[in-house]
Amino acid sequence: MERHVAGSGRRWSSAAMSTGLRVAIMTDETGWHTGRLKKAFRARDVDARCVDLAECRIDTTWAPHGLAIPGFGHAMPDAVFVRGIAGGTFEQVTLRLGILHALRECGVPVYNDARAIERSVDKSMTSFLLNLHGVPTPATWAGESTAFAQRVLMREVAANRRVVLKPLFGSQGKGLRRLGASRRDGSLAPLPSLRTSGQVAYLQRYVEGERPGFDWRVLVIGGRAVAAMRRVGGKGWIHNFAQGAQCEPAQLDPVLADTAVQASRALGLDYAGVDLIPSPHASIESGDTRPLVLEVNGVAAWRGLQSVTDLNIAAALVDDLLDRKLAAHVPVPLKTGDGLT
Ligand SMILES: Nc1ncnc2c1ncn2[C@@H]1O[C@H](COP(=O)(O)OP(=O)(O)O)[C@@H](O)[C@H]1O
Ligand SMILES: [Mg+2]
Repeated sequence: MERHVAGSGRRWSSAAMSTGLRVAIMTDETGWHTGRLKKAFRARDVDARCVDLAECRIDTTWAPHGLAIPGFGHAMPDAVFVRGIAGGTFEQVTLRLGILHALRECGVPVYNDARAIERSVDKSMTSFLLNLHGVPTPATWAGESTAFAQRVLMREVAANRRVVLKPLFGSQGKGLRRLGASRRDGSLAPLPSLRTSGQVAYLQRYVEGERPGFDWRVLVIGGRAVAAMRRVGGKGWIHNFAQGAQCEPAQLDPVLADTAVQASRALGLDYAGVDLIPSPHASIESGDTRPLVLEVNGVAAWRGLQSVTDLNIAAALVDDLLDRKLAAHVPVPLKTGDGLT
C-alpha cells in the first residue's frame, strides 16, 4: 500500500479560487517579514501560518511520518518557507535543521532546502563552493590551527594586505575584526585568541576600496537576480543594513546580476541575498569586470532592499515557491511497513 505523506495531496492550480494549500512559515519571530509573506500567500489563496522550529518535534509514535508540526495535526504542510532559524546550543540548532531535513525526507518542498541553508550559514563552506565553482571571491582560509592563522596573517601583512576575521556562523556584520597594519598609524592588529571565535579561524583577504565605502546586496530568486541595492557607510568598512548603512537603489547590470546568480547556484539555493564588493582587479583591459562575492545568505532579510525597490519582494518569493518549486514537485510515496509508521 502506498500513500503520499507530503501535504494533503491537494495541488495548486492558478485557475482555482481557493487552492486548499497550507504552507508553514518557519520563524521564531513574527513581524514585518512574516506579515508581508502572509499577505503574499493570502493573495494567492494559500493558507500560511507561522511555526516556530523550536516547537516542532520528531516523534516516532506520531503516525504516519513521525514528525509533529504545530498547527498541522498529523498532516504535513504542502510547502515550507524558512524565514528564520533561531540561534541556540549546538544541539538545538542541529535539531531545528533536522526538522527541515525530515520535512524534505517526507517529500515536503522546503524553501530554502536545509542542505543549502547549512552551506550558506557556514561561511567556510560558502567560500569553498564559490571558489570551486569559479565564482569570484576574495582569498579565504579557514582552520583550527592558531599557528596556521598566524602564518596567513603574517604572509598577507608582508604583502601589504589586511584580512578580516569573521565568525564562522556570523550575520548582520557582527563580530568582524579587521587585522593587519592600520592605514592610519601603521600599527599591527594581531590575531586575537581563537577562543573568541569558537576555536576556529575564518580569515578573508580584506578588499580595499574607496572612501566612503559601499557594497552591493543582490537578491536572487529562482535563478534570476531581481533587485539590487548599494549599502553605503554603516560601521566604518562594515556595510550591513543592521550596522546603519544607507540603502540606495542600484542598477542590476549584467555582470553584477550574473555573478550573484552564479553564487546562488553554487550553493544550491532557491533564493539568496548575495553580498558583493567591487574587485580592485576588475578592469575592462583585463576583460574581467566581475565583483567579488563576500557572502551568500540563505535566510536573507529584505526590509532594507524593499525600501529601495518597487518589486514586491515577498510576492516574488511566494510566486517562485508556488509556481516553480511546488509546481515542479513530485510527492514522495512512502510505503507502509518500512519502519516509518
Ligand atoms: N573581505 C572583505 N573585504 C572588505 N569588506 C568586507 C569583507 N568582508 C566583509 N566586509 C564588509 O563587512 C560586511 C559584512 O560581512 P559579511 O561577510 O557579509 O558578514 P555578515 O554575515 O555579518 O553580513 C560586508 O557586507 C562588507 O561590507
Ligand atoms: Mg553579509
